[in-house]
Amino acid sequence: MLFSLPITLLIALPAVWAGPIYCTLKPPKSAVSSGSNSTGGGGGGKGNLTDVVATGWFAGWHGASYTPENVTWSKYTALTYAFAVTTPDSSVLSLADSNEAQVPQFVDLAHQNGVAAHVSIGGWSGSQYFSSAVATAANRTLFVNAVLGLVSKYSLDGIDFDWEYPSKQGIGCNIISSSDSANFLLMLQQLRSQPAGKNLTLSAAVSITPFVGPNGTPMTDVSAFAAVLDYIEIMNYDVNGNWETTVGPNAPLNDTCATIKEGSAVSAVNAWTAAKFPANQIVLGVAGYGHSFLVPKASAVGPSGALVMNPPFTASQQPSGDAWSGDSTVTSTTVDQCGNPVGKDGVFNFWGLIDGGFLTENGTAASGMVYTFDNCSQTPYVYNPTTQVLVSYDDARSFAAKGQFINDQQLLGFSIWEVGGDYNNILIDAISTSIGIVDVEC
Ligand SMILES: *[C@@H]1O[C@H](CO)[C@@H](O)[C@H](O)[C@H]1NC(C)=O
Ligand SMILES: *[C@@H]1O[C@H](CO)[C@@H](O)[C@H](O)[C@H]1NC(C)=O
Ligand SMILES: *[C@@H]1O[C@H](CO)[C@@H](O)[C@H](O)[C@H]1NC(C)=O
Ligand SMILES: *[C@@H]1O[C@H](CO)[C@@H](O)[C@H](O)[C@H]1NC(C)=O
Ligand SMILES: *[C@@H]1O[C@H](CO)[C@@H](O)[C@H](O)[C@H]1NC(C)=O
Ligand SMILES: *[C@@H]1O[C@H](CO)[C@@H](O)[C@H](O)[C@H]1NC(C)=O
Ligand SMILES: *[C@@H]1O[C@H](CO)[C@@H](O)[C@H](O)[C@H]1NC(C)=O
Ligand SMILES: *[C@@H]1O[C@H](CO)[C@@H](O)[C@H](O)[C@H]1NC(C)=O
Repeated sequence: MLFSLPITLLIALPAVWAGPIYCTLKPPKSAVSSGSNSTGGGGGGKGNLTDVVATGWFAGWHGASYTPENVTWSKYTALTYAFAVTTPDSSVLSLADSNEAQVPQFVDLAHQNGVAAHVSIGGWSGSQYFSSAVATAANRTLFVNAVLGLVSKYSLDGIDFDWEYPSKQGIGCNIISSSDSANFLLMLQQLRSQPAGKNLTLSAAVSITPFVGPNGTPMTDVSAFAAVLDYIEIMNYDVNGNWETTVGPNAPLNDTCATIKEGSAVSAVNAWTAAKFPANQIVLGVAGYGHSFLVPKASAVGPSGALVMNPPFTASQQPSGDAWSGDSTVTSTTVDQCGNPVGKDGVFNFWGLIDGGFLTENGTAASGMVYTFDNCSQTPYVYNPTTQVLVSYDDARSFAAKGQFINDQQLLGFSIWEVGGDYNNILIDAISTSIGIVDVEC
């Protein structure tokens, strides 16, 4: 795909701008072994594909237990602080719910370590007012100024847009319009055209299918986004969860081979590149967490003793996730910001699976647990036969498989949700080693 791009397209793209501060992580194996002479991504601020993007989101609301000092900075080229949320006022972005006082320390530590510091705008619960903020020229100007205000206030190197989702409902009460994707692009172009916008790394966290166009279906040509964004991070997780009727993989690498096809890294990269988004500007979003389900033993474990794929689960008895899930505070009357009832999410971070006795401190299945690696999704499941809790998650093996995929497809790199989910860097080390990131030179 990468090398089949017509040369005229590459030449027609705008000139590159000076990049932000990056650690020079050594290039992925694919770049070395193929000796590829890439000319640079269209919008790619760095215009140099021999570097890899090794990044992730730092969830500010977990910042009390996982602080910027807990981050192993040498593992990353950039980190993104989540989230600044949209507000009813197009000129105001708010970090109030994300431990705002910690942002300066986050940026300082990043810069001391030669790591680029970004802030992400939006998120699942922070995208309510994106649509109105970009709806008119006047509002786009207010919004772009608010973005540049954040950049200047915190000395940021980049901004990530996590709009969930343009022209498509997310949490339930987002303002949405059929013009969202077009207006989003206009806002990005305006931001990029500002003197202070030229130097920024601009990214967008996106769904596994391309942005939705005015007719309500995924756009077939998103190349204009590639010209203004450095990269997209494909959020290939929450692909299956407790909103369905059978268990499925949280973050499948592949679903071509699955009986239930809900999407995967394979389908997502195919969909985005088919819509003219270059593979070398795609960062694969990877999950440092899993979803839990209550599954009676008779349904969970097959005759061979291995776990059954896609068993039904008992939705009325959602297990509680780890301490970060907030499930212990969920009651029958809990509602979200839209006023809709919410149940337990049952999410276990990777450290939470160790904490909860599913895994050893090495990240392998603990004694007494049933572990099966699904050959299609290339992700593991772990089951506690005593509590009947089944978890679809990611481990070192599945992260290594995703690293291999990143190299095979010549993608730009990875981004983990969330950085604090890992345990002793087991996941980050697995994917970085697989990609071939062997050292850091700051
Ligand atoms: C890359 O460019 C160099 C110098 O222009 C050339 O010698 C080499 O053959 C090229 N490699 C590939 C894989 O095209
Ligand atoms: C690309 O990055 C490599 C490694 O950091 C560097 O040596 C090289 O000079 C860069 N090339 C360009 C064209 O910027
Ligand atoms: C973060 O660092 C502190 C101080 O070293 C340590 O006590 C704490 O356990 C760490 N937390 C995590 C989640 O690693
Ligand atoms: C523009 O933004 C303001 C808030 O700053 C909002 O009240 C208004 O509805 C927005 N305009 C549109 C057309 O959405
Ligand atoms: C952009 O970056 C260049 C090189 O680092 C710097 O000289 C210039 O002042 C920056 N421009 C702005 C508007 O920040
Ligand atoms: C995905 O599954 C299909 C069908 O089994 C297979 O041909 C393909 O190689 C797989 N891709 C990856 C990256 O695993
Ligand atoms: C973790 O791995 C090390 C080295 O292989 C081993 O010595 C240790 O017993 C393992 N720990 C657990 C909890 O499995
Ligand atoms: C996955 O493939 C391996 C090697 O082909 C095989 O040993 C294993 O049983 C397979 N696992 C499942 C769950 O199909």
